[in-house]
Amino acid sequence: MEKHFKRTLITTALPYANGPVHIGHLAGVYIPADIYARYLRLKGEAVLLIGGSDEHGVPITIQARKEGVSPQAIVDRYHAIIKQSFEDFGISFDIYSRTTSATHRRTASDFFRTLYDKNVFIEKRSEQYYDEEAQQFLADRYISGSCPHCGNERAFGDQCESCGTSLSPTELLNPKSTISGSIPVMRETTHWYLPLDQYDPFLREWILESHKEWKSNVYGQCKSWLDMGLQPRAVSRDLDWGIPVPVDGAAGKVLYVWFDAPIGYISNTIELRPDDWQTWWKDPETRIVHFIGKDNIVFHCIVFPVMLKAEGTYNLPENVPANEFLNLEGNKISTSRNWAVWLHEYLEDMPGKQDVLRYVLTANAPETKDNDFTWKDFQARNNNELVAILGNFVNRALVLTSKYFDGKVPPITELTAYDEQTLVSLAGAKAELERLIDSSHFREAQKEAMNLARIGNKYLADTEPWKHIKTDPRRVSTILNISLRITANLTIAFAPFLPFSMVKLGKMLNLAPQTWQNLGSDLLVPGHQLGEPELLFEKIEDDLIDAQLQRLEEARKANEAAAYRAKPIRETIEYDDFAKLDIRTGIILDCIKVPKADKLLQLRVDDGLEQRTIVSGIAGYYKPEDMIGKQICFIANLAPRKLKGIISEGMILCAEDANGCLSAVSPDKPVHPGSEVK
Ligand code: MF3
Ligand code: ZN
Repeated sequence: MEKHFKRTLITTALPYANGPVHIGHLAGVYIPADIYARYLRLKGEAVLLIGGSDEHGVPITIQARKEGVSPQAIVDRYHAIIKQSFEDFGISFDIYSRTTSATHRRTASDFFRTLYDKNVFIEKRSEQYYDEEAQQFLADRYISGSCPHCGNERAFGDQCESCGTSLSPTELLNPKSTISGSIPVMRETTHWYLPLDQYDPFLREWILESHKEWKSNVYGQCKSWLDMGLQPRAVSRDLDWGIPVPVDGAAGKVLYVWFDAPIGYISNTIELRPDDWQTWWKDPETRIVHFIGKDNIVFHCIVFPVMLKAEGTYNLPENVPANEFLNLEGNKISTSRNWAVWLHEYLEDMPGKQDVLRYVLTANAPETKDNDFTWKDFQARNNNELVAILGNFVNRALVLTSKYFDGKVPPITELTAYDEQTLVSLAGAKAELERLIDSSHFREAQKEAMNLARIGNKYLADTEPWKHIKTDPRRVSTILNISLRITANLTIAFAPFLPFSMVKLGKMLNLAPQTWQNLGSDLLVPGHQLGEPELLFEKIEDDLIDAQLQRLEEARKANEAAAYRAKPIRETIEYDDFAKLDIRTGIILDCIKVPKADKLLQLRVDDGLEQRTIVSGIAGYYKPEDMIGKQICFIANLAPRKLKGIISEGMILCAEDANGCLSAVSPDKPVHPGSEVK
């Protein structure tokens, strides 16, 4: 038997306030959480949707240092941007706060102190890198050196970005502090550790035995962490940004960001509901659900539950429906490489199209595996689904009613078998949607809602009321009644997914806000006056999509340029070696593709004395007709070589870019063919 809960506390991973949020965040965490929250509210259930910014941690201090501002300035800036983006996309938070709030500081500090007083932590001394010049301990990210695996000289103390290996700072060769550039020394420090290993039996029982229903990606990751064996984890750091460790003799130490951040869910509930927050965290009839991305699973399924368990008075999460990652045009989304669709930028380019993005991201939600967002798919789903099915159907139902019945809902006269069958499909949608949403299958659920629109669209296409209005208006009355009934139901079925559009559609129907329980029923009495029909969605043309692809192409080029490293210079030669080369200019008289060779062009070149044939591997970069008349440089005294059966008398000089792209070298003023290059 499924347990019944009186209320649901929904939390969403707190995004780091060191950058804006992008489509990956929205698809993986915030849209599914919002769909779920809206659905439960429609059902009349007690729900809180809790969010906030994660404002501590080393990356924020690095960003601040890079910009020469305080960490507080960084988080103030991004917290505001992130909060606005969520509001713009209709993420219906009951509170969106931040971990630099006074409430959070106090709550996290007290939580640590409670565990400390219960002797939960292990206190351990260890040696860590210390920067004597800057007089501070160095976070792993603040140490750079050579990677012991691939030799990359710019590896960091936590990871080598060149070969992807996770590192610990002591593995780096020639370590250097990135703060002062000095060579760090080892110094002893004390930290507090959460002994996860001691909670192994509890975790096994709680997850592996009692939560077999969790998503398989979540359950599987937990099992593999448990099977690898848990280790104590440090919950404090030597850092000057964060919540001070509330213990004597802990000067200069702060709570580890992953200790304080999840407590942010509690703090933000306290901020929102100072009087009854405990009901939301401690009453056994409250269900806690954490929406997160897959990189957060260990913290939400293992570390935070151990903290709550050790404290002793809190509920544990009932479910953690973590998603996998969303890629963009086939590549991993990356903030530092600007390979992302930023939410605030999207809205500048596509004003009013919040629901389109919500729809596409849910349709492609990375629920069971990583998934890909492409602009072509975005366009296709908008044009072929939102416009052609949903928008088209409701528009026809409304416009025809306005035309034939003055915008008043006409009555049912008589039902055909097809009408009955259509009404049965409508009635069946509710149970199916509930089954899917309750089991976190949001993407299938949205498909089911779209199916209802599809049924309506097909119903109108099959019954063709416009053909019968003259001869059989009674039949048309029934057809439009049924079409409007489906339309009205769509406002409920789609409400969790497309909140902006469904409010709009509700106005067009002149329909009061509905509850979920009404889904499937007849919501419009005959004679009900409808509002003004408007278009719900509009077609997206190629130019809008091309501009987005162009922006990504620029980001790709910029990344390539940033990653470019010139090859080391080759061994020294004498002047005489160079002087042996006879390099000349020439003019291309004719140029054709070499048959059956993708890469080769055959050139006829005027070398100042006579004409010669040169075969060159530049076909991928130049069209033959564009080469004719060009000045080039070539090696004139190279021994002839046979390429694809053609004797090539020389070699054209080209510059090769990082990506292998070839550019023919040419004198920058017109010169006589045959001029020496020296
Ligand atoms: N800031 C973390 C991230 O973006 C998520 C923190 S979730 C919380 O990966 F539980 F710690 F709040
Ligand atoms: Zn490496």
